[in-house]
Amino acid sequence: MAQGNFGNSGSRTHAYGWEAEEAVEQARVQVASVLNADPREVIFTSGATESDNLALKGVVDAEIAAGGKRRHIVTSAIEHKAILDPCAVLESRGFEVTYLAPQREGLVPVEQVREALREDTLLVSIMHANNEIGVINDIGAIGEVCRENNVIFHSDIAQSFGKVPIDVKAQAVDLLSISGHKIYGPKGVGALYIRRDPAVPLVAQMHGGGQEMGYRSGTIATHQVVGLGSASALCAADMAVDGERIEALRDRFWAHLKQIPGTVLNGVESPRLQGNLNVGFAGVDGETLIMALDDVAAANGSACNSTSVRPSHVLLALGLPEDLAHASLRFTFGRFTTEEEVDYAASRVADVVGGLQARNSAVST
Ligand SMILES: Cc1ncc(COP(=O)(O)O)c(C=O)c1O
Repeated sequence: MAQGNFGNSGSRTHAYGWEAEEAVEQARVQVASVLNADPREVIFTSGATESDNLALKGVVDAEIAAGGKRRHIVTSAIEHKAILDPCAVLESRGFEVTYLAPQREGLVPVEQVREALREDTLLVSIMHANNEIGVINDIGAIGEVCRENNVIFHSDIAQSFGKVPIDVKAQAVDLLSISGHKIYGPKGVGALYIRRDPAVPLVAQMHGGGQEMGYRSGTIATHQVVGLGSASALCAADMAVDGERIEALRDRFWAHLKQIPGTVLNGVESPRLQGNLNVGFAGVDGETLIMALDDVAAANGSACNSTSVRPSHVLLALGLPEDLAHASLRFTFGRFTTEEEVDYAASRVADVVGGLQARNSAVST
């Protein structure tokens, strides 16, 4: 490979370009093989946000371009904002979106999807694993229902890609969004799987040089893409071993935590991503809790912006009261997490939560 692989993979007239192109094509094979897909079904993007936007808006634009009349989309209320926000844009363009309310356990059952389908349903977008509570939907079954009804099925698999087996030859999925940084790859790179048979009608959202089979113009971020490819290959090789080890760590942590009075697990215990635990602590203030746990890298159930701290839309959609949604933390466990870290974090959480609960009950008596 030329030093630093300087060439542009789109330059077909010299060796630097060929080497870069070869590296990109190898990455495409690596990403595709995690899904058992044809490499020609994978296009590179800047991340799952772009892939989600391209999938949703691209399907809608293809319908309009073909003179089709379908204007209904089905999704769930607990999707990532990268789905919910494009859906809001499409609503402003005259589309009707049904936001399925998940069950208390966070899952979207296939029957709920079936019942939501209408004559004019064009697209269903339901995520595989939820990014906050980690629960895993049965995208194979949902895809079957969509296919029976001639509806296109997209799934945001940013959280499950490389962690939960997905096989596009066995599962009736049409479009899948992937992100590099969820699998220890680089940030700012992702991919969209686009089924070729039956072909998914999709109109590009970025126009220009016609790269990525015309679906996504712009010079490819070669180094990022190569990183995504390598990260995909590592995940594929170690999926089962990593999964088992991470699940054991997560279960060890949960065994400690569930001893704390007032502790509730948010979302169904299984099927759930091996590395995810989302826990609510009754009787404590969420802000005080996260501030006191400054040496534990947990995420709180709040989406913060400069003017407000709102409880997570996911936890509220599950029916949690606001205070418990505020006092919920997401703990994630990964390839590099150790038992010592798990035990340390568990004892810190137990101390802090116990201390806050004792203080609050002293104040209220
Ligand atoms: C489910 C899901 N979708 C989309 C995204 C956005 O991914 P990216 O940062 O690659 O655009 C994320 C990451 O936060 C995610 O977890």
